[in-house]
Amino acid sequence: MTIGERRARGVARILISEAEIQRRIRELAAELDRIYGTDTPLMVGVLNGAVAFMTDLMRAMTVPLEIDFMAISSYGAATKSSGVVQILKDLNQVIEGRRVLVVEDIVDSGLTLQYLLDSLERRNPAEIRVVALLKKEKPDAIEVNVDQIGFTIPDEFVVGYGLDFAGQYRNLPYVAVLDPSLIEEF
Ligand code: IMP
Ligand code: MG
Repeated sequence: MTIGERRARGVARILISEAEIQRRIRELAAELDRIYGTDTPLMVGVLNGAVAFMTDLMRAMTVPLEIDFMAISSYGAATKSSGVVQILKDLNQVIEGRRVLVVEDIVDSGLTLQYLLDSLERRNPAEIRVVALLKKEKPDAIEVNVDQIGFTIPDEFVVGYGLDFAGQYRNLPYVAVLDPSLIEEF
């Protein structure tokens, strides 16, 4: 990290470097290329957090694909999931009969993903797979299916590479932990 970069203000330590993220994305993309073969999947990105991951992942994949986005209510400046989930923006496309790949930034309690998967399953896609960049090691998380995980991380609040704190830090090219005093201010 370059200290003094304004976007990195409050970052205490880098958990996953840019190089590690990019290397793992190439592995995930190669697996996905094999999985989809001659099919054309529809990648569904979950706004806003999955944007960084999705744009890198889709460009590392070589199969033809389509993209769409959903937005789910976030928990604002809070660092804990409220469990109350709402669709703020739905898909533009019909997914009936399609192979759908949900792209998530992080699975924490699992509530957001569970809600999203229930909603998508009701639309009768041919298949739903889930790829998440991060999954927190959380014993009390609900059981939700994630087919591919980039990295498993400890149960800490993280920012960067799409993940925000109070709307910021999404443009860090790495995943980092914030100075705890900064979080307590909220
Ligand atoms: P869940 O419903 O608890 O699984 O939370 C999922 C959503 O909460 C993710 O898609 C993120 O947008 C957000 N989130 C969970 N943990 C973190 C974190 O450590 N940093 C930033 N956002 C997080
Ligand atoms: Mg998210």
